[in-house]
Amino acid sequence: MDVSDNGNITNGDSVSTAPVIEEIDFSKFTDKPRTLNTERQRSYDERSLSELSIGLSPHHTSRNIEYSRNLDQLDCTFSPGRRSGFNTPWSQNSYETHPTLAEAWEALRRSLVYFRGQPVGTIAALDNSDEKLNYDQVFVRDFVPSALAFLMNGEPEIVKNFILKTLRLQSWEKKIDRFQLGEGVMPASFKVLHDPVRNYETLIADFGESAIGRVAPIDSGFWWIILLRAYTKSTGDSSLAEMPECQKGMRLILSLCLSEGFDTFPTLLCADGCCMIDRRMGVYGYPIEIQALFFMALRCALVLLKHDDDGKEVVERISKRLHALSYHMRSYYWLDLKQLNDIYRYKTEEYSHTAVNKFNVIPDSLPEWIFDFMPTRGGYFIGNISPARMDFRWFCLGNCIAILSSMATPEQSTAIMDLIESRWEELVGEMPLKVVYPAIESHEWRIVTGCDPKNTRWSYHNGGSWPVLLWLLTAACIKTGRPQIARRAIELAETRLLKDNWPEYYDGKLGRFIGKQSRKFQTWSIAGYLVAKMMLEDPSHLGMVSLEEDKQMKPLMKRSNSWTF
Ligand code: GLC
Repeated sequence: MDVSDNGNITNGDSVSTAPVIEEIDFSKFTDKPRTLNTERQRSYDERSLSELSIGLSPHHTSRNIEYSRNLDQLDCTFSPGRRSGFNTPWSQNSYETHPTLAEAWEALRRSLVYFRGQPVGTIAALDNSDEKLNYDQVFVRDFVPSALAFLMNGEPEIVKNFILKTLRLQSWEKKIDRFQLGEGVMPASFKVLHDPVRNYETLIADFGESAIGRVAPIDSGFWWIILLRAYTKSTGDSSLAEMPECQKGMRLILSLCLSEGFDTFPTLLCADGCCMIDRRMGVYGYPIEIQALFFMALRCALVLLKHDDDGKEVVERISKRLHALSYHMRSYYWLDLKQLNDIYRYKTEEYSHTAVNKFNVIPDSLPEWIFDFMPTRGGYFIGNISPARMDFRWFCLGNCIAILSSMATPEQSTAIMDLIESRWEELVGEMPLKVVYPAIESHEWRIVTGCDPKNTRWSYHNGGSWPVLLWLLTAACIKTGRPQIARRAIELAETRLLKDNWPEYYDGKLGRFIGKQSRKFQTWSIAGYLVAKMMLEDPSHLGMVSLEEDKQMKPLMKRSNSWTF
């Protein structure tokens, strides 16, 4: 039996070629958001979003202005707590509706998981035709789009229940063999057990101790913090985040990541399989997905943590880490044509702090495909950096979160969207969206995946197309003032997803085939679609999952003269 489906469960430098980075004072971010302690209110500051969309590159100005006008219109139609779900149809308004929507809401509601009478999450997949493995569990990362859909639909209770239940799980003692895991680790997933004899329900959770490979999910804790902020922002109810238990939960998650050690980089060192890609796929080291989520969780925690005796020290450590992390990511992970050309001409073996090629990357290690893939205008954060290793693969989740968290500068965000537009066939194809590009094949596949039969080229985590990523793309599009890109992607997915019974992923270079071992009725495919639709209809929802640059902050980064897009 292939129990590995859900890996986590059953499975002074010379910066002549780098952009100039200005000092960022992240302590400014520690102010409480204005939305806390207020009545339920709009989930974002529209003014700042319209300003942002106007302030982008001249290339997009006319589209952005038109888009901002649309935002103004939406301003008038917003009514807090409006329901768009199946029971109270979304079709009441004048915006485009699609038959798929009602079906999606029905399917999402069918996936609800109850614990002692209360909804506490959604099951990963409701596919009875296939082996359950651990798809009958509530995954923390999978629940995020479900949670956002419910928040957008004015149903915050289930999200609150989920946050509190998983918080209780965090306090469990976690052991793998005789080794005890850190206190702050959040589970990858949990399940409700019914005891028919005692007529009693209990929870069981998996922190990595049942996972193939025995890897703990680093992303769960970050998603938990991000969701806590989304809840707070959307409801205006700060009492949940202010509970001493929630404050402690956040501190525990972050103290696992902020502890001192042997690190020379501010990024987090990870094992393969610790995130959405939960099998061996060569993402060990410092993967972009985790670094971007780490950045976002740190920023969310900064607004949610109290500056009391317990919180003060963590807040200071967060500010320092954000400062170093944004410098590191923006300078070293960023790749565009200019940067690629610089790497192509890198000298090696440069000892001392004046080295340009700091990680001693050998130009011969540049993969062939990157020279064709890199457009003249556009760029992205590469997959991983460590000594003598740059993983040039494009990872969708990390790049979208980089935009949403403002880890990317506005220029970088625009460049990422430019790349998606100019490499549409490769990254979107016939079914949005590639989790990673390109696939690894042959000898490399053998070495990197350990001959994983589920991760063959252009399948599953190895270049498969995942509909759940639609919500992240849509949010990034709205933030950068380019909703038309999201609209195009949603149109591609809309009819097929329902017809194909909401597959988990698609296979093939263009995503034309339902994934070889893909589950049907995969909840996050359903919820991802719903969130994308609702966000496009009412872009004010973006505020739940997006963090603006601090207005008072100086521009975070200037392009060096030679830096082009
Ligand atoms: C797969 C995915 C993982 C997801 C899980 C449940 O293992 O790789 O990201 O959380 O399925 O859907």
